Amino acid sequence: MNQELLSKLHADSASKLEEVRKGRKALEHAIARIQPFLSKYIFDASAAQAVEFRVCTKGPVCCTRGSLDLLAQLKELAANKDDVSVTEFGCLRRCGRGPNIESGGVVFTDMTTERTKALFDNEVGKKGLPVDLLLDDEYAPEVLNTEDKRIRLLLAADELATLYSSLEDQMKVLAKRLPVDRTKRFLAQRAILEATKLHGQLASELNDCEELLKKVVPLDRFAGRLFEREFDAWLKNVRPKKWTFQS
Ligand code: FES
Repeated sequence: MNQELLSKLHADSASKLEEVRKGRKALEHAIARIQPFLSKYIFDASAAQAVEFRVCTKGPVCCTRGSLDLLAQLKELAANKDDVSVTEFGCLRRCGRGPNIESGGVVFTDMTTERTKALFDNEVGKKGLPVDLLLDDEYAPEVLNTEDKRIRLLLAADELATLYSSLEDQMKVLAKRLPVDRTKRFLAQRAILEATKLHGQLASELNDCEELLKKVVPLDRFAGRLFEREFDAWLKNVRPKKWTFQS
């Protein structure tokens, strides 16, 4: 009976292990896509101390939308700060969303004086992922996609961890009560041996998942705000301007 239970757990764990491996690979791919623009916040939080703001003033659009004023504002804020530099820059290729400012490889769009001040405080104060400033259509789909994969992997890894414990318990139970019959005893020992091997693979996979999931933790805040924004937009569209009642 114990051996049957162990065999079932073995099969369930093996199939869940495959699912988790696929999920981890999918998350790795998604991370590779967001890494270039969010690396400094998510993957390398302890990156270089110096802060550089590049303001698009030489592109054809941003300068007509007030980027020179933002440049002056940043220069004033950065005055007397040795580790902060503000430079004029060419087109950042987000002209439709200008005026734009780049910091650490991330382009912040639709900049106003308020958003510029918030960006400055965030970057200089090293406050991490500036969620409200990054709600940008270019980044949104990839972030949501990565968050979706992160949650799926989190749930699957959780199930795998439960199977891991059950497998371990069942191996111990069976090892304590080995059948007296030689053939059955041999089969039980072989089942334990196979389960031990799988148990090791589960441990290694769970460890890999944990390491990977740690990398993208700040994304849930980002994705949460994006969902809120989408939901608000949806509400505005579905809510009729005026309720009318049929008499
Ligand atoms: S003109 Fe500023 S991003 Fe192109």
